[in-house]
Amino acid sequence: MEIRALRESDDRSRFRSGDADLDRFLHKYAGQNQFRHHIGATYVAVEANRVAGYVTVAPGHIEIEQLSPAVRKRLPRYPLPILRLARMAVDETFRGRGIGRQLLRFVLDLAVRLAVDFGCVGVVVDAKPGAVSFYEQFGFAPLELIEGHSQARPPATAMFLPLSDIQAASKKK
Ligand SMILES: CC(C)(COP(=O)(O)OP(=O)(O)OC[C@H]1O[C@@H](n2cnc3c(N)ncnc32)[C@H](O)[C@@H]1OP(=O)(O)O)[C@@H](O)C(=O)NCCC(=O)NCCS
Repeated sequence: MEIRALRESDDRSRFRSGDADLDRFLHKYAGQNQFRHHIGATYVAVEANRVAGYVTVAPGHIEIEQLSPAVRKRLPRYPLPILRLARMAVDETFRGRGIGRQLLRFVLDLAVRLAVDFGCVGVVVDAKPGAVSFYEQFGFAPLELIEGHSQARPPATAMFLPLSDIQAASKKK
């Protein structure tokens, strides 16, 4: 299995994750967002020429008040750059084979590169209710909500993994 940037020639039409929004995004919007609008970047896990999973990322920022006191301690009081994991899904045919884990590790490696090249204090994901414990396994913890409620339906949990934890985990590998 290979993880690489989405190509215009990739056939996305057969992808079925069981989540209609995540499927529609890959079928209709991931290409134009990436190649025309540059809103985000999608990476695909490809097996035998088939898209088995995908993840979409974009740079963003968080307010320091959203971080736990332990993480916020040494950081300045202005918006902090992060890498946002905007969407991730694995095709139902390919579930439970470690593809989600590999896509997430790929994103954590991207965050380390972003930190070196442009600055990045960690990765943020808006986790769907059924995926919160998936992200917890990797050390993600809920962020404080600072303004109003999430507009996501069903409501999502904003979760954060600090860059220092990503670097510590990659040293143990
Ligand atoms: C969540 C998702 C990406 C996981 O993909 P996957 O390829 O099946 O996951 P993996 O095989 O890499 O699983 C890695 C580990 O996470 C666990 N896991 C998988 N899905 C999980 C979930 N929804 N909740 C909790 N743990 C989960 C696996 O049991 C495995 O644990 P193990 O290492 O102890 O065996 C996939 O189930 C999916 O596409 N779900 C629908 C869309 C979705 O919820 N996306 C996330 C949006 S925020």
